[in-house]
Amino acid sequence: METDSQTAINSSVDIVTARQRGRAPALEPGFNGADVTLIAAAISEVARNIVDHAQRGEIVMSPLNNVTGGGKSGIQIVARDEGPGIRDVAQAMQYGYSTRKGLGVGLPGAKWLMDEFDIASEVGRGTTIVMKKWRR
Ligand SMILES: Nc1ncnc2c1ncn2[C@@H]1O[C@H](COP(=O)(O)OP(=O)(O)OP(=O)(O)O)[C@@H](O)[C@H]1O
Ligand SMILES: [Mg+2]
Repeated sequence: METDSQTAINSSVDIVTARQRGRAPALEPGFNGADVTLIAAAISEVARNIVDHAQRGEIVMSPLNNVTGGGKSGIQIVARDEGPGIRDVAQAMQYGYSTRKGLGVGLPGAKWLMDEFDIASEVGRGTTIVMKKWRR
């Protein structure tokens, strides 16, 4: 993966597109088949949250190369929207918490699947999630 890949998320069709695009960079050396599946699943959850809770947004995937100067590399996925935001992020990150009768496993699941997971959200302004997976 040489450059950023940006996917607009407006409908469930776009979730499939984002998930599919996430598989390509992850197939490069340093990621194994299991990683590819985990990354795609995490992308799918955050993209689905955009459709379910914010209607529209975008997913940006970027390569992370030589991050520490010591050759550490991986992939970064940013999911962002300008939807309603989340009032209590800590609560939203708990297993089983859902405001829409979902299972409430999307956010905690995505965090668990990735190596790093940061979420920033503001009511009335939107939500930004930054997730990273490092090559082994
Ligand atoms: N992008 C977002 N914008 C606004 N609220 C969000 C967003 N993503 C998550 N949330 C809030 O966080 C809660 C938890 O999200 P999570 O993905 O864990 O569960 P869910 O989407 O409700 O159910 P599911 O298990 O089907 O994913 C949601 O119910 C929603 O209230
Ligand atoms: Mg969800």
